[in-house]
Amino acid sequence: MLPSTLVAIASAAVASAHTVISYPGWRGNNLVTNSTFPFGMQWMYPCGGMPTTTNRTFWPTVGGAVAFQPGWFQGHATAFVYINLGLGNEGPDDARHLHGPPNMSNPMISPLQLLGPSKAPFPGTFCLPQVPLPVNTTVKAGDNATIQVVELAVHGAALYSCVDITFADPGDPRIPHVNETNCFNSSDIGVADIYTLTLRAPGQSSVESGARRTLALDGNAAVAYLGYLPVVLGGLWALL
Ligand SMILES: *[C@@H]1O[C@H](CO)[C@@H](O)[C@H](O)[C@H]1NC(C)=O
Ligand SMILES: *[C@@H]1O[C@H](CO)[C@@H](O)[C@H](O)[C@H]1NC(C)=O
Ligand SMILES: *[C@@H]1O[C@H](CO)[C@@H](O)[C@H](O)[C@H]1NC(C)=O
Ligand SMILES: *[C@@H]1O[C@H](CO)[C@@H](O)[C@H](O)[C@H]1NC(C)=O
Ligand SMILES: *[C@@H]1O[C@H](CO)[C@@H](O)[C@H](O)[C@H]1NC(C)=O
Ligand SMILES: *[C@@H]1O[C@H](CO)[C@@H](O)[C@H](O)[C@H]1NC(C)=O
Ligand SMILES: *[C@@H]1O[C@H](CO)[C@@H](O)[C@H](O)[C@H]1NC(C)=O
Repeated sequence: MLPSTLVAIASAAVASAHTVISYPGWRGNNLVTNSTFPFGMQWMYPCGGMPTTTNRTFWPTVGGAVAFQPGWFQGHATAFVYINLGLGNEGPDDARHLHGPPNMSNPMISPLQLLGPSKAPFPGTFCLPQVPLPVNTTVKAGDNATIQVVELAVHGAALYSCVDITFADPGDPRIPHVNETNCFNSSDIGVADIYTLTLRAPGQSSVESGARRTLALDGNAAVAYLGYLPVVLGGLWALL
């Protein structure tokens, strides 16, 4: 009896430690590397290899909280984060013959960058308390949808996790309460806005200004534009 109790406690600890979308829930543990997913399950579009689930969580029709733990992988001190919504159930049949959304192409937020403490896996939670519905989207209580959290790594590949939800009117008691235990920002995780600078608009001549050419010749320019705007602006200032 004792060993099985210990196993139960140990696996409960593992399960909670592996919760990547901590609010409103997630499809299940996809932090798996095995012969089916030799590169790691979570890299699989659109939901990290997890098929559509039926144990849906209730989430408000006006948008609500999304909390997740971004630091489970080696080598990703920074990542761009996207949160998208998939609507309806006309998507491709999946392994359990359930149909999820046809696509996850409806962004809920502008992407942002998370700044982890190091390249080693790190603990901590990041929470946006009021993620809105995608622009021009209206839903009603009882509609099903899927929230997708994408972490874009520095090399351009992305980690995917999803949670299947059913919309409920705000204040519905079936919506799990949002509070400081399930929605908080850990102090070891920083956050940055993401900007781009247009070097040449489509249809524009390829003759560039001197300052821009200097930046374009810098091998780090692409990275600078994506993640380190203050550095780029500092550089432009110096050139002016
Ligand atoms: C749904 O069930 C799976 C399998 O038991 C579990 O891993 C997952 O956390 C559950 N999801 C929710 C939102 O309760
Ligand atoms: C790998 O893990 C996934 C998720 O648990 C599972 O569906 C799959 O069957 C596993 N593959 C093997 C070969 O064990
Ligand atoms: C929403 O999903 C649940 C279970 O996944 C299903 O029973 C229900 O019929 C779905 N509702 C709609 C409106 O499709
Ligand atoms: C994505 O799915 C929505 C339904 O949620 C559908 O209206 C839209 O046409 C789809 N977009 C693409 C590009 O397939
Ligand atoms: C939202 O709807 C308005 C009015 O129909 C349209 O002009 C706008 O392009 C839409 N925005 C998006 C992101 O689809
Ligand atoms: C926070 O809400 C969850 C339900 O989402 C509940 O289980 C937990 O006890 C609450 N914590 C506090 C401190 O109220
Ligand atoms: C976490 O940080 C983000 C970005 O600064 C912020 O929008 C959000 O409100 C914070 N979450 C909480 C629970 O304070």
